[in-house]
Amino acid sequence: MNRAVTNLIENSMKFKKPTEPLCMILEVVVVDDLVEIVIKDNGQGISDLQLPYVFDHFYRGEEARTSTTGGSGLGLAIVKQIVEKHNGHVKIQSKLHYGTTVTIVLGKA
Ligand SMILES: Nc1ncnc2c1ncn2[C@@H]1O[C@H](COP(=O)(O)OP(=O)(O)OP(=O)(O)O)[C@@H](O)[C@H]1O
Ligand SMILES: [Mg+2]
Repeated sequence: MNRAVTNLIENSMKFKKPTEPLCMILEVVVVDDLVEIVIKDNGQGISDLQLPYVFDHFYRGEEARTSTTGGSGLGLAIVKQIVEKHNGHVKIQSKLHYGTTVTIVLGKA
């Protein structure tokens, strides 16, 4: 789980807007018998066209491929795999040029 959260924080840092300081919000919310770990940033965001593919192995967005920040496009695929092994799921919401919110949903232990 440490790896999953680290991958998400690394993404927020890597895909920040060059023109604005990065602002991240991390929340842990308990909803009935579920726990949500929410990681929200004010970064570059992801277009609606790219969003369905970001959990695919080796998928890297347009900007990621043309930048020098590196990465192989495995980070989110690994997050999904880890969370699903814990019987949870991952949700992503994003708006291009506004930011991204990733939510890890797990059963309460
Ligand atoms: N917080 C974010 N803000 C904007 N775009 C993001 C964010 N997280 C992921 N993305 C987009 O989703 C793509 C896939 O993310 P993923 O973490 O799987 O790969 P990566 O970061 O490019 O490479 P790696 O994680 O292997 O170093 C990224 O290339 C990027 O286009
Ligand atoms: Mg990554």
